[in-house]
Amino acid sequence: MDLEAFAARLSALRERALQAVRETADPSSLEQVEAAYLGRKGELRTLLGGIGGLPAEDRPRVGALANPIREDVERAIAQRRERLESIALEVRLAGERLDVTLPGRPLRRGSLHPLVETEREIARFFGRYGFVVYESPEVETDERNFEALNIPADHPARDLWDTIYLQPPDSEATGTPDDGRLLLRTHTSPGQIRAMHEMSPPLRVLTPGRCYRYEAVDASHGFEFFQVEGLMVDEGTSLAHLRGLLDEFAHAMFGAARATRFRPGYYPFTEPSVAFDIGCVSCEGSGCPACGRSGWMTILGAGMVHPVVLRNGGLDPERFQGLAFGMGVDRIAMLRYAINDLRVFLANDLRFLERF
Ligand code: DAH
Repeated sequence: MDLEAFAARLSALRERALQAVRETADPSSLEQVEAAYLGRKGELRTLLGGIGGLPAEDRPRVGALANPIREDVERAIAQRRERLESIALEVRLAGERLDVTLPGRPLRRGSLHPLVETEREIARFFGRYGFVVYESPEVETDERNFEALNIPADHPARDLWDTIYLQPPDSEATGTPDDGRLLLRTHTSPGQIRAMHEMSPPLRVLTPGRCYRYEAVDASHGFEFFQVEGLMVDEGTSLAHLRGLLDEFAHAMFGAARATRFRPGYYPFTEPSVAFDIGCVSCEGSGCPACGRSGWMTILGAGMVHPVVLRNGGLDPERFQGLAFGMGVDRIAMLRYAINDLRVFLANDLRFLERF
């Protein structure tokens, strides 16, 4: 082999190497190409290993021929590596691209349950008159739910409250019939007894919460429902305070022009007792099926706290008088939102709940 043939082989190797480099598609095939041409057992070394066949005077020139070719291939490999890396980066970035101009996903916001909203509105109103919310338990004793409220065991008024007992009446475990019997409160009124024992007059409390009755469920009766109880005890409290307070309440909840009236009522724990009516929200008083053609709707019961109840609350009825009222939150909400079936409140149907 003479130098010319050697130079021709070198230049052919260069072309093949550059071609192979151009055709690589990823860093690992590039490494293979690099090893195949420039590596320890690569083509260039092998070719240079054959310079023994050259005339002795040509050998020193081999380096001058081979070095630029090695450099060309090395440079091509380095450029290709850079290019492959930038392609890989572009691919990765394309996958991670975030279009910040896309419209956002809407946040699903909850809203207060209509009963909670109504309860809070009631509490806000009476809060302006100094009433504080006083929580009272749902599991009560027969004593506080009935006896202390002047409703003895054999009193016919018990028929007004169909009760869910947690222990069977007269069960042997409870000893004497009414002592320690537990029940689900049938109204929030036992909160009055607790409040009178826990606080001292002047007191103004509002007891909201869930109540239970053994009822056949229909559009206007639930076995669980919600009440708000109000109690104010002070010296010189009168029926006039009750009337004024409830009038303001009716106007705040149902409009300033709403007609109101007191009717005589009966509750064992108040004397006198009243039913508080507002002008029918459906016909505005002219008479329609919703108000039994009377033009009036009863929204709550109220009265002056019975002296026996004050005494059971540890207070002296000669010194203190109390006014009390109790209303169904479900009923108030139904009237405000024109809902005619109370079962929707606890049915958990989102189509209904999302409207509030
Ligand atoms: N507790 C009565 C009921 O559930 C409602 C009630 C009436 C509460 C008169 C009162 C009141 O505080 O004075 O039917």
